[in-house]
Amino acid sequence: MQLFGIDIGGSGIKGAPVDMETGELTQERFRIPTPRPAKPEAVAEAVKELLAHFDWKGPVGVGFPTIVKNGQCKSQSNMHKDWVNVHADQLFKEACGNDFAVINDADAAGLAEMHYGAGKDVKGLVVTITLGTGIGSGMFFNGELIPNFELGHLRYKKHKPVEKYAADSIRKKKDLSIEDWAERLDYFFNYVNRICSPDLIIVGGGASKKWDELEPLFTTGATLEVATTKNEAGIIGAAMASKKLH
Ligand code: BGC
Repeated sequence: MQLFGIDIGGSGIKGAPVDMETGELTQERFRIPTPRPAKPEAVAEAVKELLAHFDWKGPVGVGFPTIVKNGQCKSQSNMHKDWVNVHADQLFKEACGNDFAVINDADAAGLAEMHYGAGKDVKGLVVTITLGTGIGSGMFFNGELIPNFELGHLRYKKHKPVEKYAADSIRKKKDLSIEDWAERLDYFFNYVNRICSPDLIIVGGGASKKWDELEPLFTTGATLEVATTKNEAGIIGAAMASKKLH
């Protein structure tokens, strides 16, 4: 069975059809830069353009980078403030005509990783981390998603979320060395370990490409593994979220 997934991020909107048996994209993904400002109407237009590229008429799953409850955005995060309280599933349906299932982007990436990647068959508490523009997190207990865990919004200074300290975008912006980035990530992993004692933390996004250099530098007692679905996890997990529409 083929389903369609779209991963909406702070810098790009990416989508492709996904084979649910293998968890692999069946066509090369298509990417459109996230419009700036990333207002609802502009993003909906980009989603429409992406679906037109594949001529996809069926239901669509979307991973969206804010808190999402029942298809409704509940935070601004790295998008535009106009998103708060928007029913993203309805907005996309009005723009494109397809039915949409919208969930948090990091929850989507986590779903893919738990089903097809490093989290497959892992029991207990698993935290999946996606390092990109922000820090996304997924929380799973015995393989079941507990949605909208925003671990990237733990505070590292009085009012600053830790994602403004340790995300991949911060590494790029501040041109951090591997050692300096590892120190910041280590702070974050220790923090997560201290408050939820996960059995496993799976790390994806920007860190996965540099994992061999980073891993030896971590001091946390938590068990860390690198994500195996790499860049496509967000698309694959979004496609999985659309299963309920079929
Ligand atoms: C948002 C999360 C999102 C993460 C990754 C954070 O800024 O608050 O909802 O999952 O970025 O995109």
